[in-house]
Amino acid sequence: MKILTAPYIFTPLGFKENQAIVFDKKIIEIGTHQTLEKKYPNAIVTTLPKNSVIYPGFINTHVHLEFSSNKTTLNYGAFVPWLESIIANREVLANNSKAMQEGCKEMLHSGITTFGAVSSYGLDLDVCRTSPQRVVFFNECIGSNPEIIEVLFNDFLLRVDTCESAKSDMLIPAIAIHSPYALHPNIIKKCIALAKERNYPISAHFLESPAEKEWLTAHSGPFKKFFENFLGVSKPVTTIEQFLSHFKDTPTHFIHACEASYDELLILQEGSHSIGHCPRSNKLLGCKRLEIENIQIPWTLATDGKSSNWSLNIFDELRAALMLHPTDDIKELAYRLMGSITHQAADILGVSCGKIKPDMSADFAIVTLPKAPQNPADIALWTILHTNNATQVYIQGERYV
Ligand code: BEZ
Ligand code: FE2
Repeated sequence: MKILTAPYIFTPLGFKENQAIVFDKKIIEIGTHQTLEKKYPNAIVTTLPKNSVIYPGFINTHVHLEFSSNKTTLNYGAFVPWLESIIANREVLANNSKAMQEGCKEMLHSGITTFGAVSSYGLDLDVCRTSPQRVVFFNECIGSNPEIIEVLFNDFLLRVDTCESAKSDMLIPAIAIHSPYALHPNIIKKCIALAKERNYPISAHFLESPAEKEWLTAHSGPFKKFFENFLGVSKPVTTIEQFLSHFKDTPTHFIHACEASYDELLILQEGSHSIGHCPRSNKLLGCKRLEIENIQIPWTLATDGKSSNWSLNIFDELRAALMLHPTDDIKELAYRLMGSITHQAADILGVSCGKIKPDMSADFAIVTLPKAPQNPADIALWTILHTNNATQVYIQGERYV
């Protein structure tokens, strides 16, 4: 048993001062260090450096580890040219285990103890299985062309089964539906049926770019040429409404939603869905700002992959979000952002972590502020502005940083 004691702890109810946590693999109790040391005399006590804050380990709900080797290869600025560059370069980029391991390490040092890995080819399974972090492994299904969907779906099922046989409390199988434009409705139905049968979390890219919206609503724009050249089709396989109707009874983590209208957001709200918000990725691929100030449903901040980002460090993403979004109250925005990568993300992925509360996994990201905060209410803001990496990181009670 171990005790961590710090001047500040981030709980779902806000920052608590001068508290300690006793834990083994799970959190056992929170209280003053005097009380806990008396009650658990054999526990190993660590007093954290002054001005330290204990956060629950951070959760990055959306990353594409397979593309971790990209630095200067892909074409940024607009979505369809970027997608074409992914298709042209996926073989060179996607099979680099060392880059994937470095990506996991970069996330770990920034305090990420759980991540949602969208896997296109299953090449990241071993890296995820052996990484210290908890991974929700989103096996991705793609394919809109009825002539080849059978083959693509069988390949997807094989990847799901391989993942299922590697399942543990730290590797959670899940399903990712690529997007409305790249998946045939019959396959979406099969994916959702499988997810329901096995109780898998589901994620899907949704209304990311202006090009996607134009293709789905007006059958025109940059995607028209793309689909004519790539698959010889001039109409999308679905409408937005039809796509969303598949998820009616299945809460899903929709990624991006930058182009979602008021009515589409309402459908997401009625379906108990959530949004993954990747501001740096959106900016680099020529997509709109997600107007988080108008969003009533739960959302998380996530990095996306290095296919559309320069780092997987969650503090880089937090600072970008803080700078990007207009707000009357920057302290409140900072506080919401920290909640989005902890308790909010845990509820969305259905994992027993992300909260400093008894019975939760003992996953901690400890941050040390450069000076004492004048006002404890401002700690989230100081954390985002002054942190590049966590000082210490624990997963299931073991220290990894
Ligand atoms: C498709 O199968 O429709 C598709 C595949 C890759 C990218 C875009 C679309
Ligand atoms: Fe993505």
